[in-house]
Amino acid sequence: MKEECVIYHTTSAGETVDLGRQLGECLTRGDVISLAGELGSGKTWFTKGVGLGLGIAWDMVITSPSFSLVNEYEGRHTLFHLDAYRLESLADFLAAGLDEYFYQDGVVVMEWADRWPEILPDYRLKCEFVITDDHTRKITMSGYHPRSVEILKHMEKVGR
Ligand SMILES: Nc1ncnc2c1ncn2[C@@H]1O[C@H](COP(=O)(O)OP(=O)(O)OP(=O)(O)O)[C@@H](O)[C@H]1O
Ligand SMILES: [Mg+2]
Repeated sequence: MKEECVIYHTTSAGETVDLGRQLGECLTRGDVISLAGELGSGKTWFTKGVGLGLGIAWDMVITSPSFSLVNEYEGRHTLFHLDAYRLESLADFLAAGLDEYFYQDGVVVMEWADRWPEILPDYRLKCEFVITDDHTRKITMSGYHPRSVEILKHMEKVGR
């Protein structure tokens, strides 16, 4: 299977939220979105947008899971927001049972998902964030599984 990709350039945090919202609008239960990119590259703002697209109110204030490793929000589908940053090892990830969220009845968005790519389902949609300037971010979405390609086809129609 060939990997497909769509590249976006956002020029403000608001534009990154909007991109996430447009992704969130087409997501359904079982979807897994893996986010990678350096500190401050926009992963959490993007996740706030995904939440909006899933019908989660803005005042739920989606923030990085700090103590719990996973935050759960009720919307059109449940959003499970995972963050692997603070985990020391894959063993810790598995001991915390975080892999089980991939098989729950909801949408998973995982920050720092590139730390252990081997544990991610092959149907995930990969989103990579690069800081290009103080206010600009290059966001590359990619995947090769039929479900991720379907999402990418939808996202291609969304403005860049
Ligand atoms: N185009 C942009 N898209 C997203 N955020 C931007 C953009 N331009 C500037 N910013 C700023 O960059 C920061 C992004 O923070 P955010 O918490 O989303 O990063 P993160 O990738 O989740 O970081 P961490 O790895 O620490 O969790 C915010 O302060 C935001 O205002
Ligand atoms: Mg974050």
